[in-house]
Amino acid sequence: MLARFSGVTDRGLDTTVPPGSDGRWSRRRQWAADGVVGFMMKQAVDHPECISLAAGLVDPQTLPLEATREATQRMLADESRARAALQYGTTEGAQRLRDLLLEYLAGLEGVSTDQLGITPDQLVLTTGSQQLLSILCETLLDPDDICLVADPTYYVFLGVVAGLGARAVPIESDEGGMKIESLEETLQALRDCGDLPRVKLVYVVSDHDNPRSVSLETPRREQLVEVVSRYSTKQQIFILEDAAYRELYYDASPRPSVWSFDDRRQSVVLAQTFSKCFSPGLRVGFGVLPRELVGPVTDLKGNEDFGSASFNQYLLATAIEEGLFHPHVQRLRATYAAKRDRLAAAVTKYLGDVEGVEWLVPAGGLYIWMTLPEGVDAGWGGTLFERAVDQEQVMYVPGDLCHAGSDDVRPRNGLRLSFGVETPDRLELGVERLARAIRAEL
Ligand SMILES: Cc1ncc(COP(=O)(O)O)c(C=O)c1O
Repeated sequence: MLARFSGVTDRGLDTTVPPGSDGRWSRRRQWAADGVVGFMMKQAVDHPECISLAAGLVDPQTLPLEATREATQRMLADESRARAALQYGTTEGAQRLRDLLLEYLAGLEGVSTDQLGITPDQLVLTTGSQQLLSILCETLLDPDDICLVADPTYYVFLGVVAGLGARAVPIESDEGGMKIESLEETLQALRDCGDLPRVKLVYVVSDHDNPRSVSLETPRREQLVEVVSRYSTKQQIFILEDAAYRELYYDASPRPSVWSFDDRRQSVVLAQTFSKCFSPGLRVGFGVLPRELVGPVTDLKGNEDFGSASFNQYLLATAIEEGLFHPHVQRLRATYAAKRDRLAAAVTKYLGDVEGVEWLVPAGGLYIWMTLPEGVDAGWGGTLFERAVDQEQVMYVPGDLCHAGSDDVRPRNGLRLSFGVETPDRLELGVERLARAIRAEL
């Protein structure tokens, strides 16, 4: 097991100057050089004929055009609000939206705002939730520090950790999310080998996660907080709960957050976003922070941007106040549930008879996770990916990207299929093409 802790990510631990860089670039530039995300985005833009079962984008047909038009008009019609929206704001973000988000959060948790046990200053608005993930990691992680992550996990987050020269250590997870006994075993093993002080963060995507759309079971949420607090003896190990897909539930009932089990509000950072449930173009995300993290996070954010776009924050506040937001989310759930059904049906139709091909039909989120028989290489740079993109013109996210750890331990037989961006008919066509590529590989 300990072998997994050395060189735990093959991206990022080389602290030497790369050949040919002649010392021009910082170590962080070197650690961040990966290019996978850029490649995927570019492929999608350069090859519109390629069906993207890869993109985590939301469905363009569902984007809230009418609601945004109306909210913009109402916002600009109110002169003082319009001036505030067009002005610099504070680093923490527009008070108006933060007050509303307190109510929004209380609604999600099923409690009153008083019962939340926080004040609006613990709520920080960010440029998408991605910025919070990144700034929080910058706040906590030095090179060689350790972040424990569910395995598999959101691959862009792995890039953030690697970009700081820190190590992502995978924790086994199943259909109920991160396995708490594996987390505990890993923490104990790290303590035994003297590395516990290096552990600064545990990262989980709690609801309908990326890439598998599985949710952390409710009892595990409480256990997660308990175990982490038990191992936070010398310093607080923080939990980063990424709830990017929280609102996108179709058959499942929403769950209380991991954050809600942190009674003292001191160990869990809750990251949420309006990207998936409203519009990613607005880039409005928010974090609920333990009090001691508010200053450190906003100090770093201030250096970066002195606050995210006020305009978008006021716009979203207006959409919520004017009752334009919630009906949109209801419609969205119905659309995505139907697309999920179509993708799942297509997978059954085209791959149902292939032995060893397995997939999870999710109760929420945007992805279907598929595994191929062991030994089939669906990974980045592998033959299936090349065949799918070059010959069949269909793209998926190679599952190996979503696993932390060195090349030799990362499984390469997983695929993430998204039902976010394509139309139902193209989803079906995409699976038909992908199935041809898979059959050819087998
Ligand atoms: C799990 C997860 N977290 C965070 C994000 C970041 O989203 P945004 O910055 O748009 O809020 C994404 C985007 O796809 C995601 O899948």
